[in-house]
Amino acid sequence: MGSRLGISAPALLAALILLCDRVQAFDPLDPEGNITLKWDIISWTSDGYQALVSIINYQRYRHIESPGWTLGWTWQGGEVIWGMVGAQATYQGDCSKFHGTIPHCCLQSPTIVDLLPEAPASMKSANCCRNGVLSSLLQDPENSVASFQLTVGQSSNASDTTSPPKSFLLGAPGPGYECSPPRRVNGSLFFTPDHRRATQALMTWNVTCRYSQAVAQRAPSCCVSYSAFYNATIVPCPTCACQCSYNATQPIQNAQPMCMQMSSAYMNSPGYSTGRTRDPPELYCSTDMCPVKIHWHVKTNYYDYWRAKLTIINRSLRKNHTQWNVVVQHPNLDNLTSAFSFNYMSLPRGRTNDTAMFWGIRFYNDELLTAGPVGNVQSELLFQKDPSFTLDKGWAFPRRVYFNGEECVLPPPHSYPFLPSAAIHRQTLAWKALVLPVLLNMIGRNILSLF
Ligand SMILES: *[C@@H]1O[C@H](CO)[C@@H](O)[C@H](O)[C@H]1NC(C)=O
Ligand SMILES: *[C@@H]1O[C@H](CO)[C@@H](O)[C@H](O)[C@H]1NC(C)=O
Ligand SMILES: *[C@@H]1O[C@H](CO)[C@@H](O)[C@H](O)[C@H]1NC(C)=O
Ligand SMILES: *[C@@H]1O[C@H](CO)[C@@H](O)[C@H](O)[C@H]1NC(C)=O
Ligand SMILES: *[C@@H]1O[C@H](CO)[C@@H](O)[C@H](O)[C@H]1NC(C)=O
Ligand SMILES: *[C@@H]1O[C@H](CO)[C@@H](O)[C@H](O)[C@H]1NC(C)=O
Ligand SMILES: *[C@@H]1O[C@H](CO)[C@@H](O)[C@H](O)[C@H]1NC(C)=O
Ligand SMILES: *[C@@H]1O[C@H](CO)[C@@H](O)[C@H](O)[C@H]1NC(C)=O
Ligand SMILES: *[C@@H]1O[C@H](CO)[C@@H](O)[C@H](O)[C@H]1NC(C)=O
Ligand SMILES: *[C@@H]1O[C@H](CO)[C@@H](O)[C@H](O)[C@H]1NC(C)=O
Repeated sequence: MGSRLGISAPALLAALILLCDRVQAFDPLDPEGNITLKWDIISWTSDGYQALVSIINYQRYRHIESPGWTLGWTWQGGEVIWGMVGAQATYQGDCSKFHGTIPHCCLQSPTIVDLLPEAPASMKSANCCRNGVLSSLLQDPENSVASFQLTVGQSSNASDTTSPPKSFLLGAPGPGYECSPPRRVNGSLFFTPDHRRATQALMTWNVTCRYSQAVAQRAPSCCVSYSAFYNATIVPCPTCACQCSYNATQPIQNAQPMCMQMSSAYMNSPGYSTGRTRDPPELYCSTDMCPVKIHWHVKTNYYDYWRAKLTIINRSLRKNHTQWNVVVQHPNLDNLTSAFSFNYMSLPRGRTNDTAMFWGIRFYNDELLTAGPVGNVQSELLFQKDPSFTLDKGWAFPRRVYFNGEECVLPPPHSYPFLPSAAIHRQTLAWKALVLPVLLNMIGRNILSLF
């Protein structure tokens, strides 16, 4: 009996922590982060209402890139959309029972997308027509809101009987966000430009959507490698960090043309010419197969300061990442003195101040454009030494790294360039190397922040 308890208690604890972790917050570096949908009824019509729908990105660093957001829902009755400005439904559906004016969309579960910037002026409204691109709150607050208007028909037109649609689905694109049911809140206020008068929405519902990398079920899209001035070893990204399909021992002709050798020109790539019927490769070849690699180099150790070099390397041949951002968690980021040629902002969470966001300077390096040896952007970070500063035990390397809101794969905890004199410490580190992975598997990666 006693031994049975002894076994089950740690398992129970681990399960409990996992559970709390899931319920609490999806992203430990942005626990409040959410996209809020606001459904404002602006006026009643003879057979329904006019609504203003807003998509507000309250996430600190995660944005939605082209081809942009998609928004779906399910009508509770037989509502139709008579018309829309600032967005459109992807399919009209079966409107055969209508005579005369035909609705914009008759589907029970429509999917809405943004318009392109070149849409005619008559179809535009405020905060629309950016091909679904939604910036993050900190990087570009002006473009962190999208909105559109729709005229809903075959619906009730009184406040005591009208209800919004249910089962909202936010795609970014593809899965990733989990949305709450709509919640009735006080009517939103709309201020006149001079702020001397506000009108109020007739009815308002809020829906909160949160991102989860687990729900997105995407393979990781970036990885991190290390080096340091005191050791010639470069610790590479973990093998197969993002994908495993590239087989380094197999000639590329026989492999699926998933990647292109760095040296070969695009059309001359053997993988491409033998696989003409397939899609051209998306990536340059590497053992980790990540479209983005981030390299952290510990560059200089001064008396009061130290310097690290952060390089973001693009290996994608297809995807354009404008307005990229990188989030780094490191205990010394509370004392970052400067970041050359990047913008940065501290992201305090309560009393911890160990996380910062870096992003490009507009028109200078906010787009990672050319893949290959020169396809990178870099910055040098200057830190005033934290009292716990040490070059030993990998302290100078980041604890977590995100690229565009996706967590990057770091080398395993015990692998970092050793100080030459630290070779003797290795035996004392060995127990951590053994115990850490077990712990990590048990209680998830959040425990990292404790080390
Ligand atoms: C959504 O994010 C905003 C800004 O961080 C926050 O104020 C709000 O409480 C969040 N909403 C929910 C339901 O968590
Ligand atoms: C609400 O709908 C009824 C019919 O269902 C209609 O007679 C009435 O005019 C509508 N109200 C408004 C304000 O349009
Ligand atoms: C909603 O409005 C009521 C009445 O105006 C007010 O008392 C209440 O504080 C408001 N609630 C919120 C959350 O603003
Ligand atoms: C509903 O969402 C709006 C926009 O994000 C926000 O200002 C408002 O506080 C939210 N209301 C509630 C009750 O969460
Ligand atoms: C890579 O290719 C070689 C030769 O075809 C094969 O023996 C090996 O099993 C492959 N490895 C993986 C991981 O697919
Ligand atoms: C990527 O950006 C470049 C420069 O802005 C543009 O010319 C190119 O068409 C874009 N490619 C894709 C796939 O969007
Ligand atoms: C990588 O380079 C390609 C080709 O120049 C470019 O289209 C793409 O936008 C770049 N990828 C990233 C992540 O910036
Ligand atoms: C966090 O550190 C930055 C400097 O990197 C500082 O400006 C900011 O005030 C700090 N925030 C807190 C809450 O300590
Ligand atoms: C930066 O480090 C110095 C030296 O340890 C310390 O005195 C100072 O308070 C730190 N600044 C911040 C913002 O933590
Ligand atoms: C450099 O670090 C590696 C571990 O990443 C270690 O194996 C090697 O011994 C170190 N080199 C020296 C000279 O200490």
